[in-house]
Amino acid sequence: MQRLEVLSRQLTAACATTDRTPLLATKEIYDSMYRKSIEDPEGFWGELALGYHWQEKFPARGHMQYNVDLRRGNVDVQFFRGGTTNISYNALDRWVAAGRGDEPCILWEGNDESERRTVIYRQVLDDVCRLSNWMSSRGVKKGDSVTIYLPMVPELPIAMLACARIGAMHSVVFAGFSADSLAQRIVDCKGKMVLTASGVMRGTKPVLLKTIVDDAVKLAAKQGQPTTSVLCLEVATALRASVTPWNPSIDIWWHDAIPKQSTVFPPTWLDAEDRSFLLYTSGSTGKPKGVVHSVGGYMVGVGESCRYLYDMRPGDIVFSTADCGWITGHSYLAYGPLLCGCTIVMLGGIPTHPDGGRCWRMVERYKVRQFYTAPTLLRSLLQLGDAWPRKSDLTSLRVLASAGEPMNEHAWHWFHEMIGNARCPVVDTWWQTETGMGMLIPLPCPWFDAKPGAAGVPFFGVQPVILDATTGSELPATGAVEGVLVLKGVWPSMARTLYGDHERWEQVYFAPYKGYYFTGDGCRRDEDGHYWITGRVDDVINVSGHRIGTAEVESALTEHADCAEAAVIGVDHALKGQAIYAFVTLRGMEHQTDAMRKILNDHVRKVIGPFAVPDTIHWAPALPKTRSGKIMRRVLRKIASGQEKELGDVSTLAEPGVVEMLIKLRGK
Ligand code: WT7
Repeated sequence: MQRLEVLSRQLTAACATTDRTPLLATKEIYDSMYRKSIEDPEGFWGELALGYHWQEKFPARGHMQYNVDLRRGNVDVQFFRGGTTNISYNALDRWVAAGRGDEPCILWEGNDESERRTVIYRQVLDDVCRLSNWMSSRGVKKGDSVTIYLPMVPELPIAMLACARIGAMHSVVFAGFSADSLAQRIVDCKGKMVLTASGVMRGTKPVLLKTIVDDAVKLAAKQGQPTTSVLCLEVATALRASVTPWNPSIDIWWHDAIPKQSTVFPPTWLDAEDRSFLLYTSGSTGKPKGVVHSVGGYMVGVGESCRYLYDMRPGDIVFSTADCGWITGHSYLAYGPLLCGCTIVMLGGIPTHPDGGRCWRMVERYKVRQFYTAPTLLRSLLQLGDAWPRKSDLTSLRVLASAGEPMNEHAWHWFHEMIGNARCPVVDTWWQTETGMGMLIPLPCPWFDAKPGAAGVPFFGVQPVILDATTGSELPATGAVEGVLVLKGVWPSMARTLYGDHERWEQVYFAPYKGYYFTGDGCRRDEDGHYWITGRVDDVINVSGHRIGTAEVESALTEHADCAEAAVIGVDHALKGQAIYAFVTLRGMEHQTDAMRKILNDHVRKVIGPFAVPDTIHWAPALPKTRSGKIMRRVLRKIASGQEKELGDVSTLAEPGVVEMLIKLRGK
C-alpha cells in the first residue's frame, strides 16, 4: 500500500483530531533545528536548556567541551559546565511552585485491578523530601550509591527522585534479578543502603523480594561490601499474611521511618556534570556495566526528547509499560514525563493480567494521551485478539511509542490501526541505556512518512554513520548502505563513564572505531534516509527487549559443577524477538537428561534471574571451534535454526565431525 494510503489517512485524521500543533510541525522546522544542533551544538542545547531551572546559570559559550577520539586523549564529555541544578527540583518543585501541586503526578494500579492510588504532585514532593531526610540521616550524601530493588509502586520513582534530590546515585536493579546478581551490583557500586519491599504479586505468583535482598546482603558482605540499612516497604496486600524475614540491626520498615520525617529537604545544587545515577546493563563480557549518567545533560536530553518526540506537555497523561529497572523506565516513565509536568500512569503488575484488556482499560480509565511500550508486549497483546482493545475507548490516545527491539511489520500495523485507529503516529525509537534518550526516531508529525519497522531519522545532535563492517571505513552518507552503526559527535544525555572503570568505557565504546561511539548494532539506511536496525553485531542478545550478554549466561552455566563448557546464542522467537539457546558440554555424557536441563536452568535462574533461563539446552559433547580454540558461533546459529545446509566456510574448524554430531543431537 499502503504507505501512501496510510499517509493520507494520517493526514486527514491529523487534521480532524489533532488539538495541537506538534513542535516539529513542518519538515523545514525539523531540518533547520537538526542542522543547528549539528553545526552549533553548544548554542542549540544551551537554548533548549533554558527551559529548566538552573540555580546558577551556565555560560552561553564555553559550557560544552568534549573529546571522544582516543587518539587525542581520554574520552571526556561535558555540557552546561558551570551551571548548577537538580533534577528533582525540575521534575517536582517547579510544577508545585506553578500552582499545579494538586494535580495528579502518579496514577497507579497494582497487580490487582481494584488496587489504585492517585498521588498528587505536592504529595510526591513531600514524600521525596521525607525519604531524602531519612536517607541523609542515615549518612547518604552526594556521590554515594543507593541500590533500589522495588517493584513498580509509586515509591520507586519517589525513591529515584529522593536520591536525585540529595545528589546520591541510585542504582535501580530490576526486581526480577536474583540474589547473586543483586549482590554483584551492590558490591560493584559500593552501596551501603538498599531500598526494597516485602514482596510483590506478579500475576498469580508471589515474589518475596525481601528474602532475595537478605540473601544478596549476606553475599555482598562476604565480598567485602557491608550493607548498613535496608528500608523495606510493605506493599502486596495479598502477601501481608506471610512473615517478612527481619534483621533488626539493619532493617527498617518504611511505614515506621518515613512518615515522621520532615517534608522539607532543600535540593542539593549539583554541577551539571555531577553524576545522577548508574544503571547496570549487559555487555559482551560477563561482568555487567554500571552505566553512569550526568545531571544536566541527562535532564535536558531526556526532557527535550519527551517534548519533541512524544509531544509531552504539562497535564498530559503518559502511560508507559516499562519497568523502572531498565533505562526506558528511567527516561520515559519517571524522569522525562515529570520534567514535562505530565501525569504518569504506572502499572504494578503484569500488563496481561488478569486478561488482554488490562492496558486498554487503563488507557480508557485515565484518558491516556501517550502510550509507551515495547514490541514484545505488543506481540503478546496482539495474540490475545482484537476483541480486547475493541472493548475500550482508546480515543484519548495521540502518540504511540515503542523501543527496545525491532518491531515487526505486523505488530506495527496492529499498533497503528487497531490501537491508534490510524490516527496516532507510531514512534518506534532506537536508543540504548548508554544514549539516555531516543536517538533514531520516526517523527511524530503528520508530514513524516514513517515506515513500519524502521527506526526513522536522527534526533537533534545525533550523527549516525554506517561503517563497512570489515574495513571500518565510512560508507557513503547518502543512498542505501548497510554496515555497523556508529555515532559521530556527542549529545547531552550520553553516558559519561562506566562506574569505577573509565578505561572499560573507552575500550568498549570508543576503541573499536576511533573517533566514533560504537553502538554494537548493525544497521542499514534506505534510499530515503531512514535507518533500520538489523540487530547486534556483538555477543549481546535481546530477549523481550531485555539486553542479555551471552557471556553472562555462559558463565552462569559453567559455574555449575556438572557443566564443562557452554556456548550461548540468540535464535528468532515469535513473541520474545530472540530466545536464549545454549549448547552445553557436560562433564559426564551420561548426565544428558531432562533432569539435568532442569538443574542447569534452575542454576541460571539463581545466578542471574528468571528472564535469563535458556529456552533450549542442546547437548554438545564438543563445540565447533577454530584451530585457535575460538567457538564458531556462526556455525552454532545455523545448527540451532536448522540451516545446516548454509554453514558457509567451515575450513577453519578444528574438528569437522563436531558439526554432524551436533545436528544429530538437535531436539534430543
Ligand atoms: C539495544 C539497547 C531503547 C531503550 C531500551 C533498551 C536494541 C533498542 C530498538 C529499536 C531495534 C532496538 C538495540 C540496542 N534496540 N531500540 N527501536 N529497534 N532495536 O535499551 O537495554 O540498552 O538495549 O536494544 O540492539 O543496542 P538497552
